Parts: sequence; C-alpha cells; structure tokens
Amino acid sequence: MKVVHTIEELRDQLRGQLRVSFVPTMGNLHEGHLALMGTARRHGDPVVASIFVNRLQFGPNEDFDRYPRTLASDIEKLERDRNVYVLFAPDEREMYPEPQNYRVQPPGDLGDILEGEFRPGFFGGVCTVVLKLLSCVQPRVAVFGKKDYQQLMVVRNMCRQFQLPIEIVPQETVRADDGLALSSRNVYLNADERAEAPRLYAALQQVQARLRGGERDVAALERQAGGELGARGWKVDYVSIRRQLDLKPPTQEQVEAGEPLVVLAAAKLGATRLIDNLEL
Ligand code: PAJ
Repeated sequence: MKVVHTIEELRDQLRGQLRVSFVPTMGNLHEGHLALMGTARRHGDPVVASIFVNRLQFGPNEDFDRYPRTLASDIEKLERDRNVYVLFAPDEREMYPEPQNYRVQPPGDLGDILEGEFRPGFFGGVCTVVLKLLSCVQPRVAVFGKKDYQQLMVVRNMCRQFQLPIEIVPQETVRADDGLALSSRNVYLNADERAEAPRLYAALQQVQARLRGGERDVAALERQAGGELGARGWKVDYVSIRRQLDLKPPTQEQVEAGEPLVVLAAAKLGATRLIDNLEL
C-alpha cells in the first residue's frame, strides 16, 4: 500500500486509472471501515482510502480536538487487509490551504433534520469535504456505510444533483457480537457505558418487533423507545421512524400500506453520543 499525503502524489499514483473505488474515512479504523474496503474492492480496482479528520463537520462544542487519531495503527490494519492500494492521508493545510469559503449547502429538508437538527452545519461540512475528496480521487465508485444512514443519502443526492459520474455503494452496518454498531467514538465509552451501549440497537429492534407485531402508531413507538432509553439514563436526541426513500415522516396511510421505513436514533450515554438505525 502506498501512503500519500499530498494531492499531487495522489494524482501521480492514480494517473490513467478508470476504475478507482474510493472509501473516505476519518480514521481510527475498525472492522466496519475494513468491510467498506472489501466492498470497494469488489466494485473496482484500485481501491483508494482516505483518512482525514474534517474540522468543517464538527460543531464548536464537539470532539474535533480529541477525535482519535491513530494513523500508524490504521496503516497496519490496511496493510494486513490488503484491499487498499493507495491511502490518502492529507493534513489540514493540504485540504484547506485557504479558508474554505465556497461550501456545499445541502437542502434543508434533508440536511437540517435528524442529525442536522442536533448538529447544525454538520452535513454542509460533510458534503464540502466529500466533494473535495471526490474531486481529488476521481473515483468511479465510492462506498459509504449505512451506519450513517442520513449521510449516505445526503452524499448520494449531492452526487446525483451535481451529476458526478460516481456510483455510491452502500455498506451494511457492522456490529459487535452484542449488537453495538462499531464506531470510532466507541473508544470514549467506559466499561459501564460499553455494557449499556447495545441497548440502543436493542431499542430499535424492539420498534421493529412491535411494528411486525401489528402496532401502527408510529408516534407511540417512538415515544416508547425513547422513554425506555431515557429511563435507563440515556439522553435521547431522537428516535424517529422515517421513510427510507427521503427520510420524511410517513403518513398513517403509508404506514398501513407497508411503505419501506427506517428507524433512526441518536442518544448520549454519559458524554458520548451514539447513533444507529434499522430498516424496518
Ligand atoms: P467515519 O466516521 O470515519 O466513517 C467512514 C465511513 O465508514 C462512513 O461511510 C461510515 O458510514 C462508515 N462506517 C462507520 N462505522 C461503520 C459500521 N459500523 N458499519 C458500516 N460502516 C461504517 O463518516 C465519516 O467518517 C465522515 O463523515 C466522512 C464521510 C469521511 C467525511 O468526513
């Protein structure tokens, strides 16, 4: 695997390649990230991964400064895995040599709901860096995880609307044996919190079971799941049942008619904010 830090070196490595498959990350790689690399490999060749902790997508009170930066062990994992041909690991001056005054602004009806409501500016920051990374790498395919369900949709819609010739491929969420979705932020959890953390996914599974059992009152399902987490000490930002198509709330008729739905949740355990989702 070649590790490059500048856009110029990246372009040198990729000259003439027409089937590049790309996986952007912020590093502190886990098995979820490595699954994306495997999926990328099945969809193209060579595979390019990036590691860049993108300041633009962090709010002023979020964890940009303490976000885990583990480049040496990330490189080891990628070397062992043998799916990635080039790792692009730019520093901040390389990605943002001047203030990033031109930004991508996602539409409010997708970018300002759910995660966007609780993390103002988040999806604008994500889209801006993803567009820049795509323009550096010029892949034919890019792989994103369903763990960040809304991000996947925001990025896919951005690429479609800007008519970028890039196929966005989704990767199923990779979980620990107890159900907890793998996340770089799980390292923030202490032992008690780590033991409690799988309850988030369990709450989503319970929503799924109740819906399958015939419950049709979406608001009641959301309240129930949120309330159960709250009673266990979670600070719940949202538990929300939405249409898979566009993340809009379903009408009662759509629920009855079997519209494809997804339940999405974000909640804090101590100081750590976790998100998860489940297609229903
Ligand atoms: P990061 O959180 O590092 O995630 C990189 C990619 O890995 C994303 O597509 C994310 O959805 C996926 N991913 C993370 N955990 C996963 C899991 N348990 N199962 C499957 N996929 C998982 O998302 C970002 O970085 C950034 O916002 C980025 C897109 C790189 C832009 O800065």
